[in-house]
Amino acid sequence: MTDTIEPELPLQYPFPLGDTGALPPLTAWAQRAKPVCPVRLPSGVTAWMLTRRDDVAQMLADNRFSRNLAEPGSPRMVGEDLTSVHDAIFNLDPPAHGRVRQVLSGWFTRRAVQRHRPLFARHAHRLLDQLSTGPNPADLVEAYSAPLPLDAMGELMGVPPELAAECRQVYPMSLDLSSTPEAVEKETDAAKQFIARLIAARRADPAPDTPVHTLLEARREGVISESEMFGTLFLIFVTSFDPLVAPLTTGPMILMLHRRQLAECVADPSLWPKAVEEVLRYFHNGGLGFPRIAREDVELSGTMIRQGDAVVVPMQAVTWDPRHYRNPERFNIHRATDGSATFGAGPHYCLGSQLARVVLQEAFSALFQRFPTLDLAVSERELPWDPNRMFTRPMQLPVTW
Ligand code: HEM
Repeated sequence: MTDTIEPELPLQYPFPLGDTGALPPLTAWAQRAKPVCPVRLPSGVTAWMLTRRDDVAQMLADNRFSRNLAEPGSPRMVGEDLTSVHDAIFNLDPPAHGRVRQVLSGWFTRRAVQRHRPLFARHAHRLLDQLSTGPNPADLVEAYSAPLPLDAMGELMGVPPELAAECRQVYPMSLDLSSTPEAVEKETDAAKQFIARLIAARRADPAPDTPVHTLLEARREGVISESEMFGTLFLIFVTSFDPLVAPLTTGPMILMLHRRQLAECVADPSLWPKAVEEVLRYFHNGGLGFPRIAREDVELSGTMIRQGDAVVVPMQAVTWDPRHYRNPERFNIHRATDGSATFGAGPHYCLGSQLARVVLQEAFSALFQRFPTLDLAVSERELPWDPNRMFTRPMQLPVTW
């Protein structure tokens, strides 16, 4: 799309995807021509979409925008989605937000998550053993990218064996923007029921040293309310699966399409963290994210955002902003920039960013050290992307070795 072709406003979301996961052309157009751009969400709500890194960073750190979407009538993507859950850390504003976040933050620091590397490596190698004895070609999403977070994060979170089957049924959630509001509400309800059973099971039989236990203890000590505990557990289970399946799919895909850089990583495994940063920068999972609401009139890049207006940010626009990332369309593991901005900014900055990095580093290195000749079994143009998925990725990734 060129600057001379003006799309009709508001833009209708979801947008047609860019080639092989590149920034959608409409997002790139908005970044050039309309940095504060009206977008109609699938729910029918119109929100302002910010696409420049400086505007996004300013807005995400600005207390004049609320993150609380739990009230009925709040702007949603579609139906009563996961943002409707009361008191989830996601939905909290200060000072409650800081109090709840403090409970979990020690568990997720860069240092604290390193000790989980052997767990991810163990699950990765177990799945790769199965892959090596199964049919060739195979679908990497089914064999690896989807089960890895389910198995490994399930163990890390302390899902008891009797709830493992239900966990697999509920996650990853489809988070499908073309769903009916009824289907979305049903999906949210199924996850709520799972969380309620998990809480009951772990109150009866504690699993120390898990985030679930940490939240249950904080509740017992009166640091957080029952509803803050429930909502936050609900959210960290969504984030433990869905946002990981996407980079576990797009990462291997883009590396197989850049074989020289892949070969460098295989020859020198100390490069895997660089590859992970560039995968995180290149793709963002989560589309527009979830809206924020202006508490008062705020002017951004010359546009007046009125009190009560919804604002959304596609983090991939941030990590493709040419003012901060040179030639953002080039996948280059040797960039000086990292993937940090994909995880947001301000007080709600992704709590799991260091854990996500550990998962991806272990997963990519295990996959390609075991299968250095792994390649796409179809042309990249045949990969089935679905623009309606919030966590954008090819739905299957046929590979051969
Ligand atoms: C590559 C994978 C991931 C990406 C791209 C990602 C991205 C994000 C983003 C952009 C936000 C900010 C949302 C906002 O401000 O509106 C966020 C928040 C959050 N993420 Fe992640 N995330 C990932 C993986 C994870 C994992 C594995 C966990 C934990 C198990 C996690 C836990 C959280 C939590 C708890 C929040 C809310 C923090 C708060 O409200 O204070 N994320 N994530």
